[in-house]
Amino acid sequence: MTKLPNTPANCFNVDVSSVDPYYSQYNVTCIPVISTKTTLELGCTAKVPKSYADQISGVTAALDLSATYDISTEKCNGLRSFVNGKLLTRNSMFLPISLQGCAIPANTDDFCYKTGDFRGNQNLDLTMNQIIWVLFHNWCCDRMVEINPHWNDEKIFQECRKFNIASNQYIAYNEVFSTIVGYKAMYDRNLLYPYSSLDGRSKYDPHCELNALNEFSNGAFRVLHAIIVACLKMANENRKGMGHLRLTEHMTNPSVLERNDTFQYLLLGAFTQRPNKVGPSFDPVVTRNLRFNISPFVFGTDLHTNDIQRGRNHGIGSYTAIRTKCGFKNAETFEDLEDLISKENIEILKSLYESVHDIDYAAAAVLENVIPPAQVGPTVICIILEELERLQKCDRYWWDNDQNHFTQLQMATIRSISLASVICTVGNVEYMQIHATKPVDPIT
Ligand code: HEM
Repeated sequence: MTKLPNTPANCFNVDVSSVDPYYSQYNVTCIPVISTKTTLELGCTAKVPKSYADQISGVTAALDLSATYDISTEKCNGLRSFVNGKLLTRNSMFLPISLQGCAIPANTDDFCYKTGDFRGNQNLDLTMNQIIWVLFHNWCCDRMVEINPHWNDEKIFQECRKFNIASNQYIAYNEVFSTIVGYKAMYDRNLLYPYSSLDGRSKYDPHCELNALNEFSNGAFRVLHAIIVACLKMANENRKGMGHLRLTEHMTNPSVLERNDTFQYLLLGAFTQRPNKVGPSFDPVVTRNLRFNISPFVFGTDLHTNDIQRGRNHGIGSYTAIRTKCGFKNAETFEDLEDLISKENIEILKSLYESVHDIDYAAAAVLENVIPPAQVGPTVICIILEELERLQKCDRYWWDNDQNHFTQLQMATIRSISLASVICTVGNVEYMQIHATKPVDPIT
């Protein structure tokens, strides 16, 4: 296997064919991929047989806004102002500055933000998401101070954290995941339900361990890398185009957000611009030269190749194994895939794999027929729904689980929140479409 200069020891690179139409022009012979740390390397083998390695996740498996509050009390304290329950901000609009994990060109005033997750500065959309949830927490604190002037900082912080996480969970299921897999699929799986009852639901199972499925985080959910657009459009309140930014020019360097009205324009642009469709064609920037400014490598990466290799790294099942597990018929030949993948896309797989059983999940999952209103194919829906069910069932703190501590009125308030209302509240934006995840047409 080829080694690039500076390749870390824990790398398992992907060799690039010498006739690759793109990389061969630049003499790139391999795409670097760094192996995930496992329990074996860290010596955490107490609970498992010595020979068994499991990948270690640096974040929590719960949908608990750990990207906003970080994963430990100590780290979270570093993000708090300790005044009126608020998280630290600058001018009540942006996050505190940190240069950690940041790639700032020499002799500039550029900067990164201090966030609850080291990836918070990775790309501008993600950074805007970080900012929004910090500001929404602080908006809650202002309301709490008005309503409960006798509450101290700690009480306000904890109550607003709980409210913020609940709002985020509600929006994630009601608007984001339902857009990805379709509202009916969520409803049929009892992940969403009509509001005839204001009560919580007794879904919590104390015997269920809260873990992210490897097939979810290293397979199905990465299928959405296909929707990335490398040209980030900006728009004003009337959704008139205000120029664009290039994704790769601002990775690990979000300072541009504070220049002029970039934050608002980019936010409105994100809710105006249509994402790519899941399918065999990725934005070329994502599969040719996705540059991370902090990467030790001279050349950028191919995210889809990276995802396929990550699936192998984590030992997730082959495409045929996963489709069977999801209840689709056993596939013994390429033709057996025709129930979920078009003939045209099966030809692509045939040209790459000798046997149908060799097909990597990530490679085939993006080629499945998308069934509207879902944005992804059938096995991807299957894995996402399984993960969503576990996220609710295994989380003692899930917002509408009847173990939780919201009153009926508080739950009704949370159900009245939408992504649009959050954006309007903290994004310095006056007009948003009611269904934020359904882009409106831009005025050109
Ligand atoms: C500009 C947009 C994005 C960029 C540049 C990006 C890039 C990346 C990179 C570099 C990784 C780590 C790859 C590895 O080493 O294995 C990753 C992981 C991941 N990405 Fe993205 N991504 C983007 C958007 C998205 C979107 C829209 C989704 C889904 C809605 C998504 C879902 C994931 C998931 C689930 C992981 C695995 C996380 C983990 O296991 O820790 N990404 N992404």
